[in-house]
Amino acid sequence: MIQILDTTLREGEQTTSVSFNTNQKIKIAKLLDQFGIDFIEAGHPAVSQKIKEDVKTIVNLNLNANIIGHARATKEDIDAVLECGCKWIGIFMGLNDLSLEHKYHITREQAEKRFLDALNYAKENNLKVRCSLEDGSRTNFNDWINFAKKAEEIGVDRISVIDTVGAMTPLRIFEFIKKIKQEIKTELHVHCHNDFGMAVANSLTAYEAGVICIDTTINGLGERAGIASLSTICAALNVFYGIKKYDLTLLPEISKLIEQYTKIKVSARQPIIGENVFTHKGGLHSSAVLENPETYELISPEVVNQKRKIVLGNMVGKKVLRKLNHKLPEEEINKIFYELKTRQG
Ligand code: COA
Ligand code: ZN
Repeated sequence: MIQILDTTLREGEQTTSVSFNTNQKIKIAKLLDQFGIDFIEAGHPAVSQKIKEDVKTIVNLNLNANIIGHARATKEDIDAVLECGCKWIGIFMGLNDLSLEHKYHITREQAEKRFLDALNYAKENNLKVRCSLEDGSRTNFNDWINFAKKAEEIGVDRISVIDTVGAMTPLRIFEFIKKIKQEIKTELHVHCHNDFGMAVANSLTAYEAGVICIDTTINGLGERAGIASLSTICAALNVFYGIKKYDLTLLPEISKLIEQYTKIKVSARQPIIGENVFTHKGGLHSSAVLENPETYELISPEVVNQKRKIVLGNMVGKKVLRKLNHKLPEEEINKIFYELKTRQG
């Protein structure tokens, strides 16, 4: 069964202007747990003392969700995650030529050694390890696989396919993961950035290709254009693949909470949780929806605790008015109809 790792508390805090205070993090973690989330990535403890304390606090809530701490491939970062009491660690490092030359300034052999030493160290300390090949989508496939095989020998628990700059398309990520699965047995995660608006589509095709866990953030927060949004992913899993394990009725509350904490307004057209996504305006649509909502809704608003709205404006039809009020006399309907037709919007 598919799992979701929500990283609002780690990736989400990498959104411009966003940081959460401790109480806000507690509230977010509790709501995610109530929602049925499988993993909460609680932060990168080596980044600051405050984040380290907050990760400890989240661990001590003893939620059902697994709490995972983020770490570079260094002993210090891993020690910081251990200090917080996390059972899971996500260790990341990039191995593509760009990163080796312009980020780490070391050879491939040195980078691989640093990464493998870190994975070993985490396993020796009894952590469950997710090995994340940063910018994996722009890493030479053979380099990716050769490293993943070495990580697998160490016994990492999960390997993450990371599309750091949103460089994948649905077909490409599908083929990428299918090829990986021919050589790697370890369970796979996927982390898709939204630079070209394909984070959700890429995550879902990754699931179709066989990954076991999708990374999300609430409202799609994250570096640059963010990552796949929790609400869209979970509602899509429900509609397209019949996955019912999450409490989708909590989605509006979760989204509004983050909107309030971050002061970043969710678009009215944001799938599933936007203000207008169950609003029908065109007279032909509204009339059909009043007869059977399925004509223009793939998912019912009640499933995600939203409300259906019918807008009466310049796109209205007489049939809609009749269906809304059977008792209205025809002259009254004509009057309202012509009046609405002169409206803006
Ligand atoms: N694994 C191992 N080493 C890594 C690494 C990784 N994934 N990423 C970077 N490094 C190394 C760098 O090569 C550099 O090594 P050097 O000192 O030998 O040159 C070292 O870490 C420090 O990197 P630098 O960019 O100079 O950062 P810093 O020391 O000034 O600060 C942090 C480091 C982590 C404290 C700071 O960048 C921070 O708070 N970052 C926020 C979290 C973040 O960036 N997250 C991205 C996650 S995808
Ligand atoms: Zn990311």
